Amino acid sequence: MKVLVVGGGGREHALCWAIAQSPKCDKLYCAPGNAGIAQVAECVDISADNVSKLVDFASHNGIDFVVVGPEQPLTAGIVDRLHGAGIKAFGPSAAAAEIEGSKSFMKDLLGKYDVPTADYAVFDEPDQAKEYIIRKGAPLVIKADGLAAGKGVILCRNNNEAFAAIDHIMTEREFGESGALVVIEEFLDGEEASFFALVDGKRAVPLISAQDHKTAYDGDEGPNTGGMGAYCPAPVVTDEIATMIMDTVITPVIEGMASEGRPYKGVLYAGLMITDAGPKVLEFNVRFGDPECQPLMTMLESDILEALLACAEGKLDKVDLRWHDGCALVVVMATKGYPGFYEKGSVIRGLDGAGEVEGVTVFHAGTKADRQGHFTAQGGRVLGVTARGATVAEAQARAYAAVDRIDWPEGFCRRDIGWRAIQREG
Ligand code: AMP
Ligand code: GLY
Repeated sequence: MKVLVVGGGGREHALCWAIAQSPKCDKLYCAPGNAGIAQVAECVDISADNVSKLVDFASHNGIDFVVVGPEQPLTAGIVDRLHGAGIKAFGPSAAAAEIEGSKSFMKDLLGKYDVPTADYAVFDEPDQAKEYIIRKGAPLVIKADGLAAGKGVILCRNNNEAFAAIDHIMTEREFGESGALVVIEEFLDGEEASFFALVDGKRAVPLISAQDHKTAYDGDEGPNTGGMGAYCPAPVVTDEIATMIMDTVITPVIEGMASEGRPYKGVLYAGLMITDAGPKVLEFNVRFGDPECQPLMTMLESDILEALLACAEGKLDKVDLRWHDGCALVVVMATKGYPGFYEKGSVIRGLDGAGEVEGVTVFHAGTKADRQGHFTAQGGRVLGVTARGATVAEAQARAYAAVDRIDWPEGFCRRDIGWRAIQREG
């Protein structure tokens, strides 16, 4: 069959890499793709948020199946539009994607179906926010509404910090107009994990768990990013916790979405805090995590295309996912300056040598090939150096051995990806 993957990041490179290995895939396109994806798919110069052009391309090129990577086209209704054109697609409808797109929809749903999550309230007026802070008492988490990727999230240990956060966000407008509304949440204490389930509208099949590293610098310091590294499986998600996540989070949400007339299909990504009282939901995403998708795809032994198709066709009961033994870890290499300002266009050398390290696959997130055939950096997060190993420590050693073969003075990475799991391995 002819498959189109939408997106151009490390997540989409990993998806293309895995889909290209399926005997069912005769021809693979990716829009817009990147220089790494071009090694396994034909890249099409249409941006991932140009829904109309993507649907036209799929219609005019006989695409049988579209796999949507990022959330933006999903919340904009690309799957509905593709269905309208008679084309199968992996991902939720716009109505189902509200679980990521609207925090109030998500929180109301969790309340209605009794899914554990942090208490929260929304305020558009600083004095009322401060009264709530006094009533609830710190620790609390204060968030400027409508900002993604952890920007504008302030963890407040005492009431004074919480008052100061309200002044910064609402009065001084440190994050601009998104400070017109603040969300105040109960502080959840524990270790975070990313949990993914494939969903076909009725049933869910869990993937192995993962954990990412959100902050820019070693020791979990510095500003939040889209993710500087990840590994799977995450030891914090024991078999017992995984069962609890399925029973208390994933299953009720899928049943709830179906009851609300918005059956969920695609991958459901739960960002969780594993607390002493069990797993609690921080957020939902309607897509694979990036970079988590990169180690996940290298661990999957089963045919990914068959599994994604089964989601779209409502036939997940036919799917039994098999995984390789051991674990996988990705180190993200980003352009210096990320997540703030950075220059584009620096040349990256040594990728072939990096890919020769045992167990290593280098996924591209933001690269272009220049006229001389050199890879150049075109984004914040640029490479995902991914390695499998028997242990997280082995996967980490392999990933950094590959990183050290990459000659890119303008890039940087964290040197401690996987530290929590490695501490547990002892
Ligand atoms: P968000 O952008 O809302 O996903 O939040 C970004 C990060 O802030 C999360 O990944 C957590 O590390 C932290 N965080 C958010 N909400 C809470 C909470 N209620 N309790 C503890 N940490 C939180
Ligand atoms: N790695 C976090 C995310 O994909 O949102």
